[in-house]
Amino acid sequence: MSHQLRREQLEHIGAVIVVGSGKGGVGKSTVSVNLAVSLARQGARVGLLDGDAYGPSIPMMVGVRKRADAKAEVILPLAERKDLAVEKKIPPLQRYGIKIMSVGFFIGEEQAVAPIADALGMLIRQLLYSVNWGELDYLIIDLPPGTSEPQATLCREIALTGAIVVTTPQEIARVDTAKAVTMFQRAHVPVLGVVQNMDGFVCPHCGQTAAIFPESHERRQQLDELPLLGRIPLDPAAVTNGDKGYPIVVSLVDSPVAVAFEHVAAQVVQQIAARNAQASEQQPTTLPDKEEGHYERED
Ligand SMILES: Nc1ncnc2c1ncn2[C@@H]1O[C@H](COP(=O)(O)OP(=O)(O)OP(=O)(O)O)[C@@H](O)[C@H]1O
Ligand SMILES: [Mg+2]
Repeated sequence: MSHQLRREQLEHIGAVIVVGSGKGGVGKSTVSVNLAVSLARQGARVGLLDGDAYGPSIPMMVGVRKRADAKAEVILPLAERKDLAVEKKIPPLQRYGIKIMSVGFFIGEEQAVAPIADALGMLIRQLLYSVNWGELDYLIIDLPPGTSEPQATLCREIALTGAIVVTTPQEIARVDTAKAVTMFQRAHVPVLGVVQNMDGFVCPHCGQTAAIFPESHERRQQLDELPLLGRIPLDPAAVTNGDKGYPIVVSLVDSPVAVAFEHVAAQVVQQIAARNAQASEQQPTTLPDKEEGHYERED
């Protein structure tokens, strides 16, 4: 527990949740956007930070498209700015009831950011501290695939409330997602649970569910022991709506995918509440006898 306590607690933010997977293309950004919007629809104050600087998907998924000369090199202006006055901070974009920030808001959608060693760790700090997030109940961070940066900086420096891992049913995705679980567990970041995405296809004609990807029956302890936060079916409408900037929980509220995302959001709220209750139970309820009633808490 002590390693958690040394990490930076983000001011005015109730819970910081990272959404990751060892695997690319499994739906991390889709889950992040729809989870953030679902939580906001339940009345929470929510921020969404795109942690993927080299392949930011959040702008398109929330309807922000920026054209620019794709060949022009983009070098990120990096600077450590922890103590910025509120009026100097960057205002996040407000859409669908959430506050959003992404490197993709500043560059053309086909432009590539120049690779710089160690840039991603510094960049994520900059986005956390230089954006005027205000008071939030939840900040959702959409991670790039893999287990390097900015994952390492976040796990090492920031007091993360928990991680959600996203996988698809195939064994090859589950293997990589298990790696991400191991990374979080080694860093003592609580893993809140797994979202199994693209889990079956609901036929729009007959309503029956068909498996698109063969389900793996191989046990993977790291994944199987975690709470299953939800299974999201595959629906082409999720892509068309996502590409047009309409999260499916807004555009097709009664669709099986939207209902599944609402369920995931409710599970996440429940997991965090259970962990908070457990943490407060572990706090001493009576003060130990000490001279003159002075008691210094050691947390
Ligand atoms: N349940 C779903 N049904 C249909 N399409 C989906 C579903 N979930 C995600 N997709 C689509 O799959 C593609 C990849 O999704 P997404 O960008 O969310 O994955 P990712 O894990 O964030 O990818 P990356 O690793 O590149 O960051 C997108 O086109 C998205 O619209
Ligand atoms: Mg993504």
